Amino acid sequence: MRRGGLVGIPTETVYGLGADGLNADAVRRIFEAKGRPQDNPLILHVPSADWLERYCENVPESAYALAQRFWPGPLTMILQRKSIVPLRTTGGLETVGVRCPDHPVTLAIIEAAGVPIAAPSGNTSGRPSPTAARHMIEDMSGKIDAIVDGGECTVGVESTIIDLTVTPPRLLRPGGLPLEALQEVLGEVAVDKAVQQKLAEGEKPRAPGMKYRHYAPKAPVTVVTGDARRSAAYILGSLREGEGVICFDEFAPLFGDFTVHTLGAAADKAEQARRVFDALRAFDGTEVTAIYAQCPDDAGLGLAIGNRLKKAAGFHTVDAGNGLIFGLTGGTGAGKTSALRALEKLGGYILDCDALYHEMLRTDSAMRGAITDAFGDVFAPDGALDRQKLGSIVFSDAAALERLNAIVYRHLLPEAARRAQGHAIVGLDAINLIESGLSRLCCRTVGVTAPAELRVARIMARDGISEEYARLRIAAQKPDTYYRQHCTDVLVNTAAAPEEFEAQAQSFFARLIEEEQV
Ligand code: TXA
Ligand code: MG
Repeated sequence: MRRGGLVGIPTETVYGLGADGLNADAVRRIFEAKGRPQDNPLILHVPSADWLERYCENVPESAYALAQRFWPGPLTMILQRKSIVPLRTTGGLETVGVRCPDHPVTLAIIEAAGVPIAAPSGNTSGRPSPTAARHMIEDMSGKIDAIVDGGECTVGVESTIIDLTVTPPRLLRPGGLPLEALQEVLGEVAVDKAVQQKLAEGEKPRAPGMKYRHYAPKAPVTVVTGDARRSAAYILGSLREGEGVICFDEFAPLFGDFTVHTLGAAADKAEQARRVFDALRAFDGTEVTAIYAQCPDDAGLGLAIGNRLKKAAGFHTVDAGNGLIFGLTGGTGAGKTSALRALEKLGGYILDCDALYHEMLRTDSAMRGAITDAFGDVFAPDGALDRQKLGSIVFSDAAALERLNAIVYRHLLPEAARRAQGHAIVGLDAINLIESGLSRLCCRTVGVTAPAELRVARIMARDGISEEYARLRIAAQKPDTYYRQHCTDVLVNTAAAPEEFEAQAQSFFARLIEEEQV
């Protein structure tokens, strides 16, 4: 580096492409290797706040306060440049970005070199930032002098950039240090417009790099915001063959037929930050024609993760909303119908999945075709399903039944998801709520149960059948323990009359809705 060489260096955020930041010639080669526009400034990496005075003029107290609290770490401060820093490094600006990275190897390299290391992210311009040495090799092999492998980056998104030359200080790029942490030290922080939206033609961002379409996989990306279950439902209802998904771990099984790259659990933003660039990169070199990505909310690291996804999407985003989907299931005679009526009275839209299944058996050519492919011609000449024929195949053969269910779920789930869209409260009525995977779209899954004696009496009265037959039907269904094990909530119906239970169910759902809306 002292001789002007280019070296890939590990940091806790992303890998950087480093060179002596005071050597204009070396810096020029960084721009060449990355194919980076000359007006996009580089940041200087220093081993401690003691070096600030060497390269920056009029360093404010707040810079030392931030360094004290967050360095070494994922924070870049924009300060006034001293003339020792070449304009080539700052892209012609009178300000310079400085950061102290939290990686022992790179800190040792900077100390040993004795010069500040200018380092942009080590990707080819326009590609996702590298979060492992293998990514840098992909982009820079043959173009630079060396790559130091320091393991996978522990943060995974680039540093947060705060401009301290303006009042109030301005967040130019959300990153590995949450905005909330900066606010604790600085009080008011302005957030640059380029963080959340696409700039208009000719509009100039304060961080020159924010204007470029970054991290762009070849396929167009749609970012879906909103509650994770609603965004999963939106994606499920929108996907077409050949498209790909970036989703939280919990939802991956819903997209089994598609190319999926997971981000980590919905609640684990630290993991999502570590994986977001790898997920975007993984789609390069694949044939997917479009990508849908789930997006976390803006709190904490979510602002940075969402910003990287949105930039990859050219800010093409869709909001799936925060509506609530309740799943309801339960055996015959337990009172599921009354419970659904109660939810409907609270404004819920009720989606009867059994009715939907029968509708699709008649009308959905894709589902009918898949059943015919698997089981032969089980549809009568008038188009109706020959239940006996299909039944004789699947009811004696567990594997065949499983195959049939898989086909039905694959077609029914996206349709159910589409129909749920736009409704603030949905009640999904499904016998196989858990087995089908529909429960993954639900904020709560409610099993309606009742003591066996009450169920027997109710079915006998309702369907005019014998006690013996009523008991047989109940015995063929899932036991109450199943609902206690698999549902988030169990609603026990011990009421003497349906109206009484409906009133109970209504206050039960009112409570769930209140809990979920907090
Ligand atoms: O985490 C990071 O910051 C990584 C690692 C390697 O340290 N580096 C990094 O550098 O992300 P780069 O060049 O990919 O992104 C730096 C961003 C660019 O958008 C650039 O426009 C902006 O910082 N920037 C640099 N100097 C600036 C300045 N004086 N004023 C405003 N924005 C500046
Ligand atoms: Mg970059």
